[in-house]
Amino acid sequence: MNAPIIRSLDALDALTDAWRAAGQRIGVVPTMGALHEGHLSLVQRAKAECDRVIVTLFVNPRQFNNPEDFARYPRTEQADAAILAPYGVDALFVPTGDEVYPPGHATTVSVAGVSGPLEGAHRPGHFDGVATVVTILFNMTRAERAYFGEKDWQQLQVVRRLVADLHLPIRIVPCPSVRAGDGLALSSRNQRLSAKGRAQAAALPGVLFDLAGRLERGATPAPALAEARARLADLGFAPVEYLELRDGDTLGDPLPGRPARLLVAAWLEGVRLIDNIPVTLPQTATRSSLGAA
Ligand code: PAF
Repeated sequence: MNAPIIRSLDALDALTDAWRAAGQRIGVVPTMGALHEGHLSLVQRAKAECDRVIVTLFVNPRQFNNPEDFARYPRTEQADAAILAPYGVDALFVPTGDEVYPPGHATTVSVAGVSGPLEGAHRPGHFDGVATVVTILFNMTRAERAYFGEKDWQQLQVVRRLVADLHLPIRIVPCPSVRAGDGLALSSRNQRLSAKGRAQAAALPGVLFDLAGRLERGATPAPALAEARARLADLGFAPVEYLELRDGDTLGDPLPGRPARLLVAAWLEGVRLIDNIPVTLPQTATRSSLGAA
């Protein structure tokens, strides 16, 4: 059965008031629509852990640093509602821009540090937009748990930092990336690739997994990363915006004995693809061997 589509905060409050009065745990899955299997895995996890599940669908203008990207972002509300139908979602919250940002709205939530490098450096203002909208959506839905995909690893760390720093009464639940059979991480942007581009795109996770293997076997990060960037360029990714080894939590320099992460952003056929995977650094790694990354 299709979930009720709720467009106003008053209507959402009526539902959440009743759920809270009945002592029910509310989970939220924030999305911008164009739903795929990756989103559905978040919904399934939320359904397993919560009494009531709200999926939000809002293409947030404030997190697009490029107006053309915002204009081109797929808007597929009917299809999204249909895809969710078998999953027993309790509400599909599709607020208007004015509902989220009422006239006169003047507040930005900005998370220093973790928002700065990688995506933050290439998409100025992006994480301020994300941090602001997720804070608003958490408050609007009054959820106890929120489900985020590891595909957007840096976003996940920004949201975790935000929740910890502001003592927001919500638990962030990370969910593993969902990959197609050829390894490509699912993303709403993949549908913009031609059939040829889609086949080529599978090389991105291939290079990432090879590189992780080399680093785990003790390769020195700086030259291994440079080689992998060159390999991506040879495979037709242009530009390769970044391919970096970072600390998994802070996104700063990788440190011995701490979880590390490889993160990449690269363009193919005018489509920006991102991906990331964990790396277990060898016990022999030192600050100076890693510092060169
Ligand atoms: O990951 C996304 O789809 C968006 O960044 C989010 C978390 C829904 C905020 O607009």
